[in-house]
Amino acid sequence: MKVTVVGAGAVGASCAEYIAIKDFASEVVILDIKEGFAEGKAMDLMQTASLNNFDTKITGSTNDYSKTAGSDVCVITSGIPRKPGMTREELIGINAGIVKMVSSSLIEHSPNTIIIVVSNPMDTMTYLVHKTTGLAKNKIIGMGGALDSARFKYRLAEALGAPISDVDGMVIGGHSDKGMVPLIGKAARNSVKVSEFLSEERMDQVVQDTKVGGATLTGLLGTSAWYAPGAAVSAMVQAIACDTKKIFPCSALLDGEFGLSDLSIGVPCVLGANGIEKIVEISLTDAEKTKLAESAEGVKATNGLLEL
Ligand code: LAC
Repeated sequence: MKVTVVGAGAVGASCAEYIAIKDFASEVVILDIKEGFAEGKAMDLMQTASLNNFDTKITGSTNDYSKTAGSDVCVITSGIPRKPGMTREELIGINAGIVKMVSSSLIEHSPNTIIIVVSNPMDTMTYLVHKTTGLAKNKIIGMGGALDSARFKYRLAEALGAPISDVDGMVIGGHSDKGMVPLIGKAARNSVKVSEFLSEERMDQVVQDTKVGGATLTGLLGTSAWYAPGAAVSAMVQAIACDTKKIFPCSALLDGEFGLSDLSIGVPCVLGANGIEKIVEISLTDAEKTKLAESAEGVKATNGLLEL
């Protein structure tokens, strides 16, 4: 299993680190446009190998895509991150050009790769890769729901006063402050619905805190978060590498599922060796359906800004 991570910034480096620590890939290549930066991050990470007990070989390169040849999975983190007060959607102008160029360069050297898109606005960048590369739709996956669900579980555990391992919850919809749809009605503590423990007001608060999870961190850090995004990508890469068939909410190209078409948006997906192996059409309440449809409108409006 060879994995390429494009972008040696904080998200890309965290992603490479978590993949290496889990020790399921033989090779991770990090690429960056800044001279020497990916090489430096790769060398620093390799010097943790004897301490963290992994054999994954990490190498870095300044924009030489020939080094990525034969990758099974490529992760695109390139582009500019948001600053405090910015929405993910405001990044579209710069990031669309970068994601288009990066995805075509990756496929040139790894025609059979699976691509995971992290760059924002993520659902629209995932749609752009579908529209511009011709790669099969199961092989283009947007990372958003895995991260948003991890943030949801953090907020649920906090509200419940429970350990995170006791909590289950999923966020579908667009990866945006307005568009996320945390499925609070389906969230559970050890199979007991959270509504048995929490008031309506507290559940609303959990949903609100989850939706602005990324913006809260951007406000605190001055830039976009990296540990949880990196961990979310690495969990998805692991599911593909180890063919686990685990369900993650991912941004997938829809063709009628959930009554939606011609967009990529967060829905539950089985991830395995073939990328998205199945979109799981869970039943939604009327309120959840309405929220997902509204979220899809938002994603489509952002897609409309692409020059395709
Ligand atoms: C975030 C970025 C990865 O939500 O979109 O932190």
